[in-house]
Amino acid sequence: MLISELKNKKIGVLCGGMSTEKEISLKSGKAVLNSLKQMGFKAVAIKVDKNAAQHIKQSKIDIAFPVLHGVYGEDGAVQGMLEIMGIPYVGCGIFASAASMDKDITKKLLKTAKLNTPDWFSLKQFQEIPQIKKYPVVVKPANGGSTIGITVAKTYAAFLKAAKNAFKYDKKIIVEEFVKGKEITVAVCGGQVLPIIEIVPKGGFYDYKAKYQKGCASHIIPARISKKSEQTAKKYAAKVYELFDCRAICRVDMIVDMTEKVWILENNTMPGMTETSLVPDAAKAAGLSFNDLVLRLLEHL
Ligand SMILES: Nc1ncnc2c1ncn2[C@@H]1O[C@H](COP(=O)(O)OP(=O)(O)O)[C@@H](O)[C@H]1O
Ligand SMILES: [Mg+2]
Repeated sequence: MLISELKNKKIGVLCGGMSTEKEISLKSGKAVLNSLKQMGFKAVAIKVDKNAAQHIKQSKIDIAFPVLHGVYGEDGAVQGMLEIMGIPYVGCGIFASAASMDKDITKKLLKTAKLNTPDWFSLKQFQEIPQIKKYPVVVKPANGGSTIGITVAKTYAAFLKAAKNAFKYDKKIIVEEFVKGKEITVAVCGGQVLPIIEIVPKGGFYDYKAKYQKGCASHIIPARISKKSEQTAKKYAAKVYELFDCRAICRVDMIVDMTEKVWILENNTMPGMTETSLVPDAAKAAGLSFNDLVLRLLEHL
């Protein structure tokens, strides 16, 4: 949609939500709302809870801008509700959101498309727990984010504990081979692959604290990887955007191992949008301000 057409529309920034990442969404939502207002748009914040449909209806918005992370917000649920309500919305649609939220489905799609991802298996609750052939493994809830419920296990006993913990967050978990290397993330914004960010967590693991506490992780742009890995990672990100049928935005998390091989971990369809988040940082490196980034997302409605 043309930006000039949007100036008279009322935009509802959907934030909060009901997932474990609610607090982050509130911060991302606030940053997006401020940016929209600063640029002269008519924008309001709408907190998403069980009565989201009612709040949206009462606020009489023309366009929704979901800035939600995790289940019910980033998994296609809110997107489905907006489709039923006939409200156009910013960002990925139902399929891209749902397929990317589930790390098991994501990896199945990646494998089918011959995009490199660490070996894994999934486990459902009450399924028999198998032996592990090679340690360490990374145990994750299939649907989640912000490293919540994720553990690296080096022994069978640790694996059992990690699985029990991950099952607190989801009925399905994945057990993935650990890849040692440099962590990178590659954002695609409106078809443009943004500069790659290398993430260096202070404590060695990119956990919840490292993600959101100031000074606990540094973002290095350009990432210190070979030219070939850079090309591969950028190609992977563009392919993931296509494969998952993303709209406007996605951010693909990857690891570049010691041999410079690139491994895809997951796809994020509504990445963090606080001023210090990864995507705004990558955008900045491409010469786009936070406002430019928000405009880009709106343009791809
Ligand atoms: N296979 C793996 N090998 C090494 N580290 C991993 C692996 N999978 C995840 N991690 C670590 O855990 C973090 C979170 O995992 P990720 O799959 O991106 O889930 P989330 O949705 O929580 O971000 C990653 O950023 C990385 O630091
Ligand atoms: Mg991630």
